[in-house]
Amino acid sequence: SAAEKGGYDYFMLKEIAEQPKAVADTLLGRIDGSGRLTLDEVRIPDAVLREADKIVIIACGTAFHAGLIAKYAIEHWTRIPCEVELASEFRYRDPILGQRTLVIAISQSGETMDTLMALRHAREQGAKVLAVCNTNGSTIPRESDAVLYTHAGPEVAVASTKAFLTQLVACYLLALYLGQVRGTKWGDEIHAVVRELARIGDEVERVLETMEPVRALARSLAHKDTVLFLGRHVGYPVALEGALKLKELAYMHAEGFAAGELKHGPIALIEEDLPVVVVVPSPKGRSVLHDKIVSNIQEIRARGARTIVIAEEGDEAVVPYADHLVRIPATPTLLQPLVSTVPLQVFACELATARGNEVDQPRNLAKSVTVE
Ligand code: AGP
Repeated sequence: SAAEKGGYDYFMLKEIAEQPKAVADTLLGRIDGSGRLTLDEVRIPDAVLREADKIVIIACGTAFHAGLIAKYAIEHWTRIPCEVELASEFRYRDPILGQRTLVIAISQSGETMDTLMALRHAREQGAKVLAVCNTNGSTIPRESDAVLYTHAGPEVAVASTKAFLTQLVACYLLALYLGQVRGTKWGDEIHAVVRELARIGDEVERVLETMEPVRALARSLAHKDTVLFLGRHVGYPVALEGALKLKELAYMHAEGFAAGELKHGPIALIEEDLPVVVVVPSPKGRSVLHDKIVSNIQEIRARGARTIVIAEEGDEAVVPYADHLVRIPATPTLLQPLVSTVPLQVFACELATARGNEVDQPRNLAKSVTVE
C-alpha cells in the first residue's frame, strides 16, 4: 500500500531515500567519543584477528560488489591479503583455507543459498567466518562464528540499495577495527577516516537533494539499448554495481569495466552517442589515477561516446569532457563509493520507470535466492 511505501511510489525510492539514516544507524554505538572503534559483537577474539594471515570475502550480486570495495579498504588499512569471490564459485575450486583464514560472508537477507554453502565449506576447512548481514537471526549469521549486523532496516525492493551502503559501512568499520587491533602504521589516517564516516550520512543526503538532473537524463535515455560504466580503484566495483542495477531494473544491456581495461578490448564497443557513465576518483592524493581516467574520458569522447561523468565537487579537470556532469561531495578516496553509488541507483530506478518496468519486482528475480 501507499502507506507502507511512506508516500513513495515504490519501495526502491523509499529505500534510496532512507540511506542517510541507514548509514547513521549502522555506525551507531560502534565509535566511541575518542574515535576508537568498539565492535563488541565481533566475538572473534583479538588474538585470532591479530593472527589472521588471509581474508576471504564471499557474497553474491550487490553484496559481492560491496566485498570488492571492502578489499581495497582491508588491504590498505590492515595489510592482510584479501580475496573476494563469488560465493557460487568458491567451494567448487577447492579453495585454500585454514585456521588463520578469516572469511567474511556478506548477505542482506542472510538466506542466500550460494553464500550459505560457501560459508559451510569454509568452516569445515577450519576457517573462522564473520557474517555481515541485515537480517537478525537469519541462517547465515546463525551458522557463522560472529556477525556484524548492518542496520538498514527491512529492504523490500528486489534491487538492493540501502543494504549495499550499509554493507560498505560495516566493511569499512571492520577494516578500520582490524587496523586498530593489529596496530598498523595508519593510526592517524584511521582516526581521520572515522571522523569522515561520522559525517557521511549527511553527504549522502546532499547527493539525494541534487538528483533531479540525473532523473531527467535517465528519462532521455529510455530508448537506448546499451549503457556502459567505467571506474578505477574503488570506482570499478561501483561501475559494476551501476551496471547490475540497470540490468535488473531497466532490462538493458549494461556493463561495467575497469577504465584501464578499455584499451584491451572494450573500447571497440564505443560508437556515436553511446551513453558511458564514468566514476571519477578523487582528484586529491590519487592524482595518477585521476589523470588516467581523464584521458580515458577524452578517448571515449573522441570516439563519439556521450559521457556521463560522476566527479567530486571542485574537480574542474573533467568539465571539458563531460556531456553530463553529476557532482558528488569530496570524500576520502576509499569512502567515495558511499556517495558515488547513489546517482547510479537513482538513474536505474528512473530509467526502469520510464521504460514501464515494475521497479520493486523486476521480472525473473526474487529478493532472496534460496536455491543454489
Ligand atoms: C541486488 O540488487 C540483487 N537483487 C542481488 O544481486 C543480491 O544482492 C544478491 O542476490 C545477494 O543477496 P543477499 O545480500 O541477500 O545475500
